[in-house]
Amino acid sequence: MKIQGKEYRTIWYERNVVKIIDQTKLPHQFIIKEVKTVKDSINAIKIMEVRGAPLIGGTAAYGIALAVQENNDPEFIKKSAEKLIQSRPTAINLKWAVDRMMKKISGINSDQILDIALKEAKEICDEDEKFCENIGINGLKIIEEIYNKKKDTVNILTHCNAGWLATINWGTATSPIYHAHKKGIPVHVWVDETRPRNQGANLTSYELNEEEIPNTIIADNTGGILMQRGEVDMCIVGTDRTLSNGDVCNKIGTYLKALAAKDNNVPFYVALPSSTIDWNIKNHKDIPIEERNSEELSYMEGLDESGNVKKIQIYPKRSKAMNLAFDITPAKYVTALVTEKGICEASTKGLNSLFKR
Ligand code: MRU
Repeated sequence: MKIQGKEYRTIWYERNVVKIIDQTKLPHQFIIKEVKTVKDSINAIKIMEVRGAPLIGGTAAYGIALAVQENNDPEFIKKSAEKLIQSRPTAINLKWAVDRMMKKISGINSDQILDIALKEAKEICDEDEKFCENIGINGLKIIEEIYNKKKDTVNILTHCNAGWLATINWGTATSPIYHAHKKGIPVHVWVDETRPRNQGANLTSYELNEEEIPNTIIADNTGGILMQRGEVDMCIVGTDRTLSNGDVCNKIGTYLKALAAKDNNVPFYVALPSSTIDWNIKNHKDIPIEERNSEELSYMEGLDESGNVKKIQIYPKRSKAMNLAFDITPAKYVTALVTEKGICEASTKGLNSLFKR
């Protein structure tokens, strides 16, 4: 998708280095950063220069390729894979991508191992782009149906950033929105700010602006009253891990939005590529929920009066804060899952109907 009129993907390999858009600097600075080693990849994931489940997966895939490039000793690559998997715990795409890379290169001792690793990392990214495009084509039908009934702008609420910046391209939750916009359907997006890191305000609103899609940032607690007033036609969010029973783990605050949607008969959709499905864990209580540094809550960053980026402390110095990064939305609150293969009920039956295993 576009930034200042130029088409980008979020990650690519060029002249022996991986390039990423540093998302910690958006929206105030647009910086392309070089990731040269597997250690750099781990760091980029940890400090969230890259984030969003599919992009974390793509970065981990290239991380393995960089490990091979640095030192193709199998022990080094294995240790690197373990460290990559530990870099962020919740998004299942991370382990999925590392496992796929390790399987691809296992037992290859020839000079070709680097080419094979790089090709597979690119394939993981290309596949994600295609899947996200298909999520958009499938999700477009939902927006179209609402528009055909309403004959007026479709108001869509989203949480966090499940946009193209969280994937390789298109996004998951935003892909149907981009497709609707391209088709000429009038859409307007309510963008949850998404405290504490403000991925909604800093990334979703930013990328929608760049694609000329009307959007309005709201404080995280505003969605409820907007739904009561009939100003939300549908919600659509992404996910970091969806269980085979349809339970959805996503950015903290998603659950509360789903509860408000249920109370107000607003359909609540979750968009995901199949790489985000966890077929193994059966109970959502077993999903590792990341707890991040509480300074993400007590400090904020933005432009000062002179236009310089500045970090300020906003809480009383002595106050404790806690920062759980994800929550669980039980399947019963999810109207449907929008995947690359089609739309299905958020249930074992629904997922099995699309992904026969
Ligand atoms: O902590 P983040 O910014 O990595 O969290 C991102 C989200 O919660 C997204 O909604 C999710 O990864 C889906 S991205 C298509």
